[in-house]
Amino acid sequence: SVFQCAIDGPAASGKSSCAAAVARTLGFAYLDSGALFRCITLKHLRRGTDPTDWHDFTAATDLRLTALPPLTGTLDAAPVRPRVYMDGEDVTAAIRTPAVNEHVSFIAAIPDVRTALLAKKRALGGGIDGTLPVPGGYAGVVMDGRDIGSTVFPHAQLKVFLTAAARVRAERRVREAGGDRDLIEQELVKRDALDMARAVSPLRKAGDAVELDTSAMAQGEVVVMIVGWVRD
Ligand code: C5P
Repeated sequence: SVFQCAIDGPAASGKSSCAAAVARTLGFAYLDSGALFRCITLKHLRRGTDPTDWHDFTAATDLRLTALPPLTGTLDAAPVRPRVYMDGEDVTAAIRTPAVNEHVSFIAAIPDVRTALLAKKRALGGGIDGTLPVPGGYAGVVMDGRDIGSTVFPHAQLKVFLTAAARVRAERRVREAGGDRDLIEQELVKRDALDMARAVSPLRKAGDAVELDTSAMAQGEVVVMIVGWVRD
């Protein structure tokens, strides 16, 4: 069966850059579940009106993430992210705008959206328990998000819950993409509160997840630690 590694945590906790580097080091597929919610949010914002059926609206959307090149040797200086395609369009940049940041938690709280994306996430990641093949023939997957260890892959061999102080997370975001630190911190804290408060699969640490506070850690240390846990 396929090795499933779940990496969950609050906004900008370093999940996606760490998860991508872990996957590339191990030759596993990297799957960014937040990107899927961002795509549905973008599609809805462009449309301007609510669909009559959120499940159909979500299920009918073609979502693809490109594979990442294997990592050999040292970590790249800049994080390497997959390109994201929605209905054939490259939306890699369009899903990271302030408008999408502001609305994504509301879209992610709609039960029918979550159900439809849950099916897509499991199809990409070896099924509920890793017994199905992963597209691309990978021996394992690393998926990052909010509910991967608690809901998507409840039997994952490794579950990590990454945290960091809000201030540290905002500072990292500014270093990566610029912007005002205080505003970014406010946005992150607000999104975390919404993600923790929703009724369906809220942001929380799975009972059997390892919690890692990365406030005082370099990204490379986090990656080495998680890779070590997978190999043990
Ligand atoms: O990880 P990222 O910040 O891109 O996620 C964007 C949003 O998507 C989160 O704030 C959350 O509302 C939603 N999300 C989710 N469940 C996941 C991943 C993301 O609800 N597994």
